[in-house]
Amino acid sequence: MTGNLSNKMALGKSIKMYLTIFVATTCIYMVLYQYHMSRQPLATNEVVKQPEKSSSSSSSSSSSSSSSSSSYIASFLWAPMPNSFYNSTQNTTMGLGQGHGGGATNVTYSSTATSSGPVNASGSSYFFYSTVSLPLILSSASDANNNKSISTTTTTTAAATAGLATTSTTTTTTKTTSSTTTASTQKLKTTRISKPSHAQNSMGKSTGVTLKIRSKFVAVSDPPPLYIITPTYRRPEQLAELTRLGYTLKHVLNLLWLVIEDANRTNPLVAHTLDRIGVPYEYLVAPMPEQYKLTKRAKPRGVSNRNRGLDYLRANATEGVLYFADDDNTYDINIFEQMRYTKKVAMWPVGLVTKTGVSSPIIRAGKLDGYYDGWIGGRKYPVDMAGFAVSVKFLHERPKAKMPFKPGYEEDGFLRSLAPLQNNEIELLADECRDILTWHTQTKKNPAALPFNLTRYGNTNLAFIEKLLVRP
Ligand code: UGA
Ligand code: MN
Repeated sequence: MTGNLSNKMALGKSIKMYLTIFVATTCIYMVLYQYHMSRQPLATNEVVKQPEKSSSSSSSSSSSSSSSSSSYIASFLWAPMPNSFYNSTQNTTMGLGQGHGGGATNVTYSSTATSSGPVNASGSSYFFYSTVSLPLILSSASDANNNKSISTTTTTTAAATAGLATTSTTTTTTKTTSSTTTASTQKLKTTRISKPSHAQNSMGKSTGVTLKIRSKFVAVSDPPPLYIITPTYRRPEQLAELTRLGYTLKHVLNLLWLVIEDANRTNPLVAHTLDRIGVPYEYLVAPMPEQYKLTKRAKPRGVSNRNRGLDYLRANATEGVLYFADDDNTYDINIFEQMRYTKKVAMWPVGLVTKTGVSSPIIRAGKLDGYYDGWIGGRKYPVDMAGFAVSVKFLHERPKAKMPFKPGYEEDGFLRSLAPLQNNEIELLADECRDILTWHTQTKKNPAALPFNLTRYGNTNLAFIEKLLVRP
């Protein structure tokens, strides 16, 4: 009996002991766990998520989910790029071909297109916002008729009194975009809505690639149109320079930007950058002649580009003003409003030129009395490229005017080729040359990017970025 009792007591004791050990272990474990957790970074579901950047749509083949502008280049690069994308002929025009001079390349596209015309207030405002072009196929100009078979809705809105018309065909998967731009003289009211739609290629297959046909620039008479001729060439800084200049030009109304690359073929990334900026443009090519490329001496940079721009104007422009704007310089938008009314030739100072720090006409007693520049070099017009503008009508009156392939004498040669031109016919802008509104800035040269490790980063965002970089 007692043995039985003591057995029971022993059992009770050991149960108690086990329970105590269990509770104690649990407590210790919990304390340790708490300590461990306190050392950990926030769990992923506790991290406040950034608003989604929609890059996912780029890889899906048929979805037309919204994609923000930041993903355009990425989606563009994901899309297989047919060789026919490149057009190796000189004078290639990227984008809308019809009515834009010879050698135009037409974008073949398909799908429902939505568009809205420009909002034009009192004949002086226009809108141009270009969503991204992701052309599937670029056909030659002779294929233009084939475009008719493609189901497209195009709306053309002619700006009533001003005669500014923008034909716009949009095929896009993008969201509503609106933009407001102001120019120094007028307000530009601009709103553009693109309805989402499924992009399809001409075979009727859904591709998920967004397409946009750029608006056609039609110059209006008032205020006079500006034609900005910008030579450019491939280098690590190119897209950055064009972006900076493009957004300066975006503040200026009734302007056509002639971007002319020193190359045999257009570069889709440049076209893409121009599309994204949304300034009316033509993208042409004009390679430097081989003989100058090979020389060890100074090269005539941007000359074939500028002459190509002059050819374009002779064929496509009747009035307004032309200006050579190198892609790396700095421009105050006030100069554009001032040069707009040039009758023959206008000039003004350019900062950061030579050791004098500025290149400028000298005005004495209200009259042009020579030039101030660190290097005169026997030039009749020792001025910088950024320091003069020419009327388109005047250019037409001088059918032989062009720029010589003569390093250092490009400006002088071109201005001389406009003869006869009296000094008193040269208009002096920028507060009668007492102010500086343009600068000959020079971007630091950047080395080519290091090679990309495909094995290591092939499946990451770097594979997209990599394609934007310039390698030797
Ligand atoms: C200066 C002047 O500002 C230019 O107008 C002039 O053409 C040039 O000198 C020259 O005399 O050769 P700079 O800053 O020295 O310009 O030259 P860059 O800015 O390198 O080139 C001028 C323009 O030509 C730029 O818009 C550039 O993109 C373009 N370029 C340059 C080419 O198209 N191809 C090239 O190989 C180099
Ligand atoms: Mn320069």
